[in-house]
This record gives sequence, C-alpha cells and structure tokens, in this order.
Amino acid sequence: MTKRVILATSNSGKLAEIGQMLHGWEVLPQSEFDISSPEETGLTFVENAIIKARHACLHSGLPAIADDSGLEVNALNGQPGIYSARYGGEGATDQENIEKLLTNMDQETHRGARFDCIIVYMRHQHDPSPIICSGSWEGEIAWIPQGDNGFGYDPVFFVSELGKTAAQLNSDEKNQLSHRGKALKQLRQQLQTVTSTH
Ligand code: IMP
Repeated sequence: MTKRVILATSNSGKLAEIGQMLHGWEVLPQSEFDISSPEETGLTFVENAIIKARHACLHSGLPAIADDSGLEVNALNGQPGIYSARYGGEGATDQENIEKLLTNMDQETHRGARFDCIIVYMRHQHDPSPIICSGSWEGEIAWIPQGDNGFGYDPVFFVSELGKTAAQLNSDEKNQLSHRGKALKQLRQQLQTVTSTH
C-alpha cells in the first residue's frame, strides 16, 4: 500500500522536488486539505519546521513533512537566519532582501556564510520524536548579484570551489550541493524505516 504524507508547504517547487525523491510515497500538498500556514513563532529552524508539520498533522490526521531554511552570514552574527524570507521587511521581495544584505555587507571583507535546511517528519500531531534531518552549504556573499536561476539569495551566494553563484547553477547541480538536497537525501534514507502509516 502506498504510504501517504502531507507536505506542509504552499511552494509548488518544493512539492515537486520532494515528491520526486520519495519513491513509494504519495506526497499531498496541504492545500488539498485547505490547511493555511501557521505563524512561525520559533527561534530556530527546527522549532519552525515542527510547528508547520504539527499543524499539518492536526488538520489532516495524516503524517506530515515540513522544512525550514535560511541564510546565516558570519559577519552579521548569523543574520538573517530564521528571518531570511522577511529580512527586507514583511512581504519583501528577493531583490529587496538581497539589497539589504549587500548594504549591510558593504566594505565587509569577511564574507563567509552558509545556507541551512531542516526537514522534519511527524507521524502524528503528538509525535514525541519527529525524524529531524539537516543539511548545510558553505559559501561566501558575493559583492554583486550574478545569475538568473534559483530563488532567494542564490544570486549573491558564491560557491568558491565552482567559482559561481548558486544562481549560475542548474537545478541538478544545485541539488547535489545544496542544504536542501542534503537534508532530503537523509530524509529519503530515514523514511525507509517508517512502516506504520495511514
Ligand atoms: P523557507 O524555508 O522556504 O521559508 O526559506 C526561507 C528563506 O531563506 C527563503 O525565502 C530564502 O530567502 C532563503 N533561502 C532558503 N533556501 C534558499 C536557497 O536554496 N537559495 C536561496 N535562498 C534560500
């Protein structure tokens, strides 16, 4: 029997990416159950991912997967971190977030940064031990944006070993290296041990 899981995201790109990687699973978007996104009140990626997954379990009665991710810049003491999506203000565009980042990094020569991603799987809303997977990707903040692929901070995330920004990689190249790709690989392995489901 196919195992079913809700994906707690409204991002269709993530749904396709995660659906492709989880063979043998039927991955359903939370929109099919009319589930809205909860407020992300946590102070860590782990807390926010659990809040999203628990909310989806509660409203669907099914197991749920949720992820949370962001950019941490060393010279900015780890900012924007959990505030990555809204760094330039509530509802900020990717371009506004990038502009604020480059302004705050103006003249800063220490440009190390990393993307982090946490993905959790919860069997039910009261699951006391969610499966928690993580992935990191080290890079540097570029001086100017370059490349048109990807999303978010990709145009200013410079991967020194390739001499390119993340926005200059195609999706396969990015998935091989990225924080989300690494966390997803872990999730795929760990879910092989999950037998009981709805
Ligand atoms: P979320 O996990 O989808 O909520 O992502 C949080 C924010 O972190 C996004 O809105 C982006 O600004 C940033 N972010 C996370 N992953 C990436 C990535 O792979 N590339 C560029 N930006 C990212």
